[in-house]
Amino acid sequence: MAVETVKRLDARALRGDFPIFEEKIKGNPLAYLDSAASSQKPRQVLDRMREAYEHEYANVHRGVYELADRATEAYEGARLKVQRLLNARSRREVVFTRNVTYAMNLIAYAWGLPNLGPGDVAVVTELDHHAVFVPWQYIAGRTGAEFRAIPVDADGELQLDALDEIASAGRVRVVATNYISNTLGTVNPIERLTAWAHEQGAIMVVDAAQAAPHRALDVQALGCDFLGFTSHKMCGPGGAGVLWGREELLAAMEPFETGGEMIRSVKLEGTTWNDLPYKFEAGTPAIVEAVGLGAAVDYLEGIGFDAISEHEHELTAYALERLAELPWVRIFGPPLERRAGIISFEVEGVHPHDVAQILDRHGVAIRAGHHCTQPLMRRLGVAATNRASFYLYSIPEEIDQLVEGLHDVRKVFA
Ligand SMILES: Cc1ncc(COP(=O)(O)O)c(C=O)c1O
Repeated sequence: MAVETVKRLDARALRGDFPIFEEKIKGNPLAYLDSAASSQKPRQVLDRMREAYEHEYANVHRGVYELADRATEAYEGARLKVQRLLNARSRREVVFTRNVTYAMNLIAYAWGLPNLGPGDVAVVTELDHHAVFVPWQYIAGRTGAEFRAIPVDADGELQLDALDEIASAGRVRVVATNYISNTLGTVNPIERLTAWAHEQGAIMVVDAAQAAPHRALDVQALGCDFLGFTSHKMCGPGGAGVLWGREELLAAMEPFETGGEMIRSVKLEGTTWNDLPYKFEAGTPAIVEAVGLGAAVDYLEGIGFDAISEHEHELTAYALERLAELPWVRIFGPPLERRAGIISFEVEGVHPHDVAQILDRHGVAIRAGHHCTQPLMRRLGVAATNRASFYLYSIPEEIDQLVEGLHDVRKVFA
């Protein structure tokens, strides 16, 4: 019987694809530990975008000349790559957006506004990024629906025993949450939440911003109804994102934005809408950014998502081990088995911004702040944390550089 082994990834070799790693930061090699905020870009993506501008650029869809055809082919080709990435049933289910924030707002406005009302409940979690939390809180407020957040325990894991109490607040119509927490790295039980949402007669919305860059996604296996992600965190350019939705739900929804491209016919008496996915793509899209996202999908699939997650898992284990050597560092979040490549921590008695600034002197880039998760910060009883996050190009030496820098932080503030 054949034994399947995960193809290993050679992060040192892959760094050669990323021009940014040739930079020196204050004389040090760059230790880029902020990929959860935005990832670096490989030459393969940069070159593909340049090629698109130099040889395939015009506006898409309406052209009757060769360049417009080339641009349309490149743009629609990127949609097919995303369809394949997600194992979506149809390209009509793949809507290009500006980012995942836009994708989450699109659902909240175009599905939530007409479908929610008094007696209904919109459910998020205490872990969620503001991009999920705020749209549903806002739309619930506007429609008179209840707004509830599934609480987390002290390790930042969802307390699913609270679900019954939440269900007793009314008719649960939507459950929206992130697959992986950008602050704690918690991997949420999405299949379980989806099953619960469907039992309640609710739709399930997944913010996959921190999942799509790191693990294979299969929307049919997940069983959710909508899922969004953002290109700039997965080796692609900024300005592009994706909303995937079940075709029957997207087809039944009214548009979110109106204007060019999303119409079929416009008359003084009224306007009719274009087919999916164009009904949700008003105006000229971010053409070359979508092409760049397609190139990023090819790049990541070429490396292999199993290899990427395995590499990040090993790095996270190493980082947790190294940080545990520092008794004055407090680590937040779940155990390694249920954590992605993200570690939030605080240095006893030192403000996270001071920590990040001193680390910068060592060439170490980490984040300091609330990470757009203020409700979670309140739950953890802190105003802010430091956050280190890893990606396919991260190497153990960067973690060593972080630990060395933290010793310096301690010295400065002792
Ligand atoms: C879990 C999660 N959701 C949503 C977002 C928002 O992404 P964007 O700003 O690209 O819309 C982020 C980015 O930090 C995130 O980590």
